[in-house]
Amino acid sequence: MSTTIEKIPAKFGETKRKDLWWLEPLLYFIGLGGFVVYATWAAFQGNHYEYGPYLSPFYSPELVFDWWKFSPAFLILWIPAGFRTTCYYYRKAYYRSFFMDPPACAVSEGCKKYTGETGFPLIFQNIHRYFFYLAAIFIVFLWIDAYKAFFFDGVFGIGIGSIVLTANVFLLSCYTFSCHSFRHLIGGFKDSFKCGIQHKVYEKVSCANEHHMLWAWLSLFSVGFADIYVRLCSMGIWTDLRLM
Ligand code: FES
Repeated sequence: MSTTIEKIPAKFGETKRKDLWWLEPLLYFIGLGGFVVYATWAAFQGNHYEYGPYLSPFYSPELVFDWWKFSPAFLILWIPAGFRTTCYYYRKAYYRSFFMDPPACAVSEGCKKYTGETGFPLIFQNIHRYFFYLAAIFIVFLWIDAYKAFFFDGVFGIGIGSIVLTANVFLLSCYTFSCHSFRHLIGGFKDSFKCGIQHKVYEKVSCANEHHMLWAWLSLFSVGFADIYVRLCSMGIWTDLRLM
């Protein structure tokens, strides 16, 4: 029995694939690029991030100091930005869509040497687990914001914004706690499992982890939309409907 080993094409973009392999990186580029442009613009604004009991997630927790002369968003956003930038899933997405390294499976990046993430600057991707710890703390603040979004001048009520902020923190929680680092943190003790509750939690986190890509995209859109919602209500362009 003979085995044929095909040579991998070495020229950039060369492939034997016949499907629309370029579509996925193109959609990544549009989705991630659009979000980064909007989030940067919104962070620079430094206004219209509150409306009634609603607080934009880009500005939460709200930190205001006399000595800080820039938008308060910059005190916050480096944490979720670092968390997403070093996320195992997003790395794949932006390595493909922004750096074409490689553009897709079985599509040549035209590069002869593979250095992985062991050298500068990509070795800093290993900091992800520490961003996870910080991001988990932020989730607590965002749930508090969602709770406050149900009280209008101290009276319980439900507005569309209450639902938007609650849905957003739910999706962000799913994204954060389906993180690979959390799975490793919860699942093992050195090289072995602890049985009992820890193993059960590990199974649940593993289950959520299977859908990490979905949570990554849904939470990206929801956090952007939550800021847009609060911003447009604050600017008087949208009216926040009260359901109760
Ligand atoms: S792997 Fe994506 S958030 Fe940790």
